[in-house]
Amino acid sequence: MLYYSNKKNLHFHLKPNPLSEKHQPIHFTAIDNGHKTAVTCHHGSHPNLMFLLKDKLGLDYFGECGGVGRCATCVVDAIGIKGKSIIKERNEPATLSKMGYDDETTRLSCQLFVTADLEGAVITILEE
Ligand code: FES
Repeated sequence: MLYYSNKKNLHFHLKPNPLSEKHQPIHFTAIDNGHKTAVTCHHGSHPNLMFLLKDKLGLDYFGECGGVGRCATCVVDAIGIKGKSIIKERNEPATLSKMGYDDETTRLSCQLFVTADLEGAVITILEE
């Protein structure tokens, strides 16, 4: 904590809390072919969930378009995500619809950012 005075008032600033939301570990479960993996990551550790899943689970076939939301090779069933991540934006609704996916929980993992919205979620890989 840093204190300073301008002679009339005493002011203080709080240092950023090292355990603020962006520094908290994020935990979720990833399921690939029935195999469950407990994943721990941090806010922004990867550009998006697709890259994180490729990295943590070694999915070679995953994310063929590189994350622009066009190929649907990164499709997952995402149960329990929260916050802004619930909203399907950019290319995601059109690509999912074109590929015949209409479940609320079906998502393009490349369109989900690595944030605390994933805490406690269960992410199941749908594409092979
Ligand atoms: S990587 Fe192609 S749609 Fe997600």
